[in-house]
Amino acid sequence: MGEPHPAMVDKDLAGVRETWDRLASEDPMWAVLSRPEKRHGKWDEDEFFETGESFVEEKLAWVRSIAGELPNGPVLDFGCGLGRLTQPLSQHFSSAVGVDISATMIARAEAANRHGDRCTFFLNERSDLGAFDDASFGFVCTHIVLQHMPLALSAGYLREFMRVLRPGGLAFIQMNEVTRNPVLRLLHRVLPTEQIHALLKHRERAAFSMYGRDLEEAERILASAGGRVIGVATAPYGRWWLNHHVLVERTGDHGSSPTWVAGARRPAPDGRSREDHGAVADEEDTVFGPRPDSS
Ligand SMILES: C[S@@+](CC[C@H](N)C(=O)[O-])C[C@H]1O[C@@H](n2cnc3c(N)ncnc32)[C@H](O)[C@@H]1O
Repeated sequence: MGEPHPAMVDKDLAGVRETWDRLASEDPMWAVLSRPEKRHGKWDEDEFFETGESFVEEKLAWVRSIAGELPNGPVLDFGCGLGRLTQPLSQHFSSAVGVDISATMIARAEAANRHGDRCTFFLNERSDLGAFDDASFGFVCTHIVLQHMPLALSAGYLREFMRVLRPGGLAFIQMNEVTRNPVLRLLHRVLPTEQIHALLKHRERAAFSMYGRDLEEAERILASAGGRVIGVATAPYGRWWLNHHVLVERTGDHGSSPTWVAGARRPAPDGRSREDHGAVADEEDTVFGPRPDSS
């Protein structure tokens, strides 16, 4: 795939920023976790933040089961929203920086922060992470973020995650892939997701735009930036998607061909019978609900 024109990436970025800032102003907790019954301000704040604590506990246990110890150093939480994951992450690393494209999300995350300087938030309206030095983090986390942005943008961020990680650092990356049904995959390449859903008269319409990337392609992008996939857990996500949790180690190299390590197996052809590092079974399916503009 060739490099996209920078103007296209800028246009995509502006659209992403406007969408998220509007969502953050209208119904911020629902924008993050879109459970239908929690729409219109119905999330209880404590309950909302507790979902982040349990998610972080569970995912760091998964990371330890593959990598042994957690790496030292600060953690970058990319697409931090209200800091739901940033705050608990800060308790497991020397400090945490939550980065988001929405000024409204960042302001609300700062207001909700209970961990002082150990947990900070940063508005990043760029298609890169240029504000951060090479090798400045031990861990990167991104959850329910990349799936909502055009692929050219997320490809750039995947490379940036590897740049800002120090050698030996780890990244937990959640991403989606369109299901391995060949007709759907072909449609997905030529039509926007929402049109596919309409064509199929799919009853569960996605609340937000969704973008899928093949796991193998993500692996190639990461490898070209010095990352090695060391664990994958996959589960179906709604009817048309696969949800991947990918654990990536930053190697000392500056880019290589993908190498899969023992236990991190490629997906089976139907994309379902993954046994590598467990299945994903948590909150992501909540994205499938009524569209924001429908009742
Ligand atoms: C569904 S929320 C998830 C928030 C958080 N990761 C969590 O799980 O609680 C997605 C967040 O990603 C942010 N986001 C989307 N595109 C981004 C980008 N290009 N750079 C930084 N943040 C972005 C949005 O503003 C929003 O706060």
